[in-house]
Amino acid sequence: MLIDVVPTAKHIGDYDLTAKTAVVFDILRATSTITTALANGCLGVFPVLSVEEARSLAADPKQKIPSANPDVMMLAGERGGQKIPFFPHGNSPLEYTAEVVAGNYLVLTTSNGTRAINGSVRASYVYIGSLLNIRATAVAATGKNKDIVLVCAGTADKFSLEDTLAAGFVIKELLHLKPALSDLATAALHLAHHYSREPVKAFLDSRHGQKLIRLGLQEDINWCARLNVYDFTSRFKNGRIEIDK
Ligand code: MLT
Repeated sequence: MLIDVVPTAKHIGDYDLTAKTAVVFDILRATSTITTALANGCLGVFPVLSVEEARSLAADPKQKIPSANPDVMMLAGERGGQKIPFFPHGNSPLEYTAEVVAGNYLVLTTSNGTRAINGSVRASYVYIGSLLNIRATAVAATGKNKDIVLVCAGTADKFSLEDTLAAGFVIKELLHLKPALSDLATAALHLAHHYSREPVKAFLDSRHGQKLIRLGLQEDINWCARLNVYDFTSRFKNGRIEIDK
């Protein structure tokens, strides 16, 4: 098994994802938000690329869920780390408590994460990874007996410390399988070794983590840095993300 790492959403096209298993990371915060919402009873998440598409699906969920009632689709999104103006929901994982999200769907658009998820659609399987469920995601990703591509969303088409750290944590979970590693996968593994005792330090060292702190989102940082809170992972299939049964 070969494990490779895609540094940012912009670079996905340079990699051949066909017949491979992809795991997508946007640790601050889209994939952490998706994982938390699903853990709290969200029925599914529709990751879309544009504000207009998100508004349209929230207004008419029957486009994707024929039997849906009109208010089942929650409109959520972020640009530049902040909630999109006039959107009822943003991209903080902590806002998606069971009281808010249980029994509903989310349509979500973010600056980088939803782009990386949709960009990975050519893979045979697409898992959504976060530190919150890193072990369950790593185990599921090996279950398909295919080469694995760890897709980092990055930030504004630039390398992101936190996404690559998460890729390294997946590799660390899989070392017993003696996978072949690309150089970027090896670098990611060493990042994971370096920050393994205190992953939040990587967030404090990262440009996007520092931006979120400036925006007053320290609690998001603390939550997104927690390892293996959940023992499930989720898959992106036919345009929606659901818990991988
Ligand atoms: C992203 O899409 O890059 C992130 O989710 C942005 C954020 O929520 O801060």
